[in-house]
Amino acid sequence: MLPVSRSRWRWRWWVACVGLAACLLWSWGAQAGGHEGAQPAKKAILLVSFGTSVPQARQVFAKIEEAAKTRFPGVEVRWAFTSKKVRQKLAQEGQVTLSPALALANLAEDGYTRVAAQSLHIIPGQEFEGLKETARRFAGMPKGLKQVEVGAPLLLSHQDMERTAKALLAHVPKERRPSEALVFMGHGTTHQANEVYPAMAGIFKELDAYAFLATVEGSPEWNKVKQEIKARGIKKAWLIPLMSVAGDHARNDMAGPEDDSWASQLGQAGIASQPVLMGMAEYPEVVAVWLDHLQTAWDRLGKE
Ligand code: CO
Repeated sequence: MLPVSRSRWRWRWWVACVGLAACLLWSWGAQAGGHEGAQPAKKAILLVSFGTSVPQARQVFAKIEEAAKTRFPGVEVRWAFTSKKVRQKLAQEGQVTLSPALALANLAEDGYTRVAAQSLHIIPGQEFEGLKETARRFAGMPKGLKQVEVGAPLLLSHQDMERTAKALLAHVPKERRPSEALVFMGHGTTHQANEVYPAMAGIFKELDAYAFLATVEGSPEWNKVKQEIKARGIKKAWLIPLMSVAGDHARNDMAGPEDDSWASQLGQAGIASQPVLMGMAEYPEVVAVWLDHLQTAWDRLGKE
């Protein structure tokens, strides 16, 4: 009896040891990524704009979304607005819009693992830097997103600027005569990225001797540009937003009836003006620049 019982015990030991080894191997494999790593990435696109409280201007966003969906068929496309002021104003009107942080959190909750966030801003300024910082903090969060890549704003490289300038000039109304000024209105900022605007002004001037660029809050300054238009004896100016949508600045600061709008100031100087209330996002060639930047970000996303 004794030898039989002893061999049975030995056999039980053997089974226990093999079982334990298998358990250890399995958990090690799971930790090494065997569990989640084998899954293909669930990718999404987040379009990130400053936002606008002007309903007509917001319709333009639908066109960008359509273009993105055509370029990336079957991919989930969502939105975020970086301006808290705009989001709050829309909330009062009963419209829910999300900050980039909330939109990224929702994507993680819905099981997405890798996100290409496309900045629909114009320059790599404060709004863009904020988005990049948010993306950096969201990437690699436990049980959250693995990766968030941010696509460059519209005007980053010299090539971006040239493409955009040519597209805008191609869309100038046919009624404009060559001796009439084109005045592009940029936003402008105290951020160093404001340098894009003087660079862009130079590109416009090379392409059209009567093309000017001025900003609302930075340089080139509107006052100086207005003086130059006056000094050159120009009789009429076309006012065109260098902004993604023809929102508040374009409708009020540029074309509004108030005494200090650009249109009114030109009128006071005896210069006729004609505003073009079209945002840059309404031109497919400009949207293509943004989407090329999105493509670059998308291509950086991992496969698993
Ligand atoms: Co502003």
